[in-house]
Amino acid sequence: MSNLMFRTPKGTHDVLPDDQQYMTYIKKSVRHRARQAGYRRIDPPIFEDRRIFERGIGEHTDIVEKELFRVSGKKESDANDTEFALRPEFTAGICRAYVEYGMQQLPQPVELYAIGPCFRHDRPQKGRYRQFHQFDLEVIGLKDPSLDAQLIQVTWNIFKDLRISDRLSLQINNIGTSENRKAYIEALKDFFIGKEGRLPEEDRGRLLANPLRLLDSKNEDTQILLKTAPLFTQFLSEESKQFHDTLLEYLTELGIPFNENPRLVRGLDYYGQTVFEFWDQSTGSQNAVGGGGRYDGLIEILGGKPTPGVGFAGGIERMIWHMKEAGVRVPNKDQVDVFVAQLGPEAKKKCLTLVSQLREKGIHTVGALGEASLKSQMRLADKFQSRYTLLLGKLEVKDGTIILKDMQAGKQKQIPYEQAIPEVIRLLGEKNLDTYEIRDQMGQMEE
Ligand code: HAM
Repeated sequence: MSNLMFRTPKGTHDVLPDDQQYMTYIKKSVRHRARQAGYRRIDPPIFEDRRIFERGIGEHTDIVEKELFRVSGKKESDANDTEFALRPEFTAGICRAYVEYGMQQLPQPVELYAIGPCFRHDRPQKGRYRQFHQFDLEVIGLKDPSLDAQLIQVTWNIFKDLRISDRLSLQINNIGTSENRKAYIEALKDFFIGKEGRLPEEDRGRLLANPLRLLDSKNEDTQILLKTAPLFTQFLSEESKQFHDTLLEYLTELGIPFNENPRLVRGLDYYGQTVFEFWDQSTGSQNAVGGGGRYDGLIEILGGKPTPGVGFAGGIERMIWHMKEAGVRVPNKDQVDVFVAQLGPEAKKKCLTLVSQLREKGIHTVGALGEASLKSQMRLADKFQSRYTLLLGKLEVKDGTIILKDMQAGKQKQIPYEQAIPEVIRLLGEKNLDTYEIRDQMGQMEE
């Protein structure tokens, strides 16, 4: 058993320290832009009654048919008794919460955002994982194209903050009311009568279960056939057309570039009217960085009163990939400011306090308080890439001094021991200290 090597499950990955910096940067932008626009945070549970997803997202979608992680609440798992599913997305859970907590009583629209892991049992490939992270924005309770436009603007601002907006193209479409879609689906089915044999097997299945998904099929034969198929726009109601045109006017007014894409349909059944996605400009629809749209029927499916909603989710791993490709650098918050080296039992004792005092001041401090030689401590300081080293030996303890070394310049000076902290603060700059003010804020709250 000794050579047993455990690895992360297929399609999952550790978010290692280097990637945490990207994660934190993205989360900060999301929180900042969401709060600016009046959104409040919600964390739905990671697993829910599976029917929420099955009914909400749709029985015949890939997400529900192939990708749902069904889990059992029972101790002995029984394949026929999986009541729950890991969330494949946030929207259905957030709408369940809107109904469960009577949020229709709040001033409308209710704007909520979420950030966290989602799970889809997809075939893992580049940009496609079984556990991935989304940020999600939802605007529930009112219907107006200005809400769709403002939601798109918040997401656009996030992509601008992350400096990846010029790598993305916004694709937008309106897929009408459910009556419009029903009529169109009938026309599409009629069109394909006698042509089924020319469709690949997967698309033949789609024709039966979810014909709209044929529109965004990646298969060339299907795309050739579709060239002569009826167009969705012919089936759109006046009201849908007007909603769409007004939304596009608003986007133009806000200076957000978009591509009208009449073939854009989404992989989740709850959408009606507006749908949109942010595509990688170089690879197109493959690996969209995010997508969303209007879901005016979803809350009713989940047991609430008919309530409109519009929302969006971005894929954080795909955003990080774009940031790296674009050479976007994020601040390294893990930088070690000071390395404390010491020699002799007296020095070691003093350094224990010194390390803790430096940390209290908001200075990232690492101390080599083991028994290593001075030489190996200095090697360690190099490995930690610390900016400064404070060195306390037997002699310095005796005459009340300490040695301060600038690691980059390679220069060092001897200063009075009590000058060590003020001097490091001066060199780092007050504004760069990593201070933590929770105690003060709690104090204020209690007053
Ligand atoms: P979605 O298009 O299924 O929409 O997912 C949104 C984004 O999550 C995708 O564009 C992609 O970046 C990321 N994503 C999805 N699956 C994976 C995966 N297997 N691996 C890595 N990233 C992935 C939704 O989830 C809707 N709930 C969006 C929404 C919110 N609509 C209304 N409100």
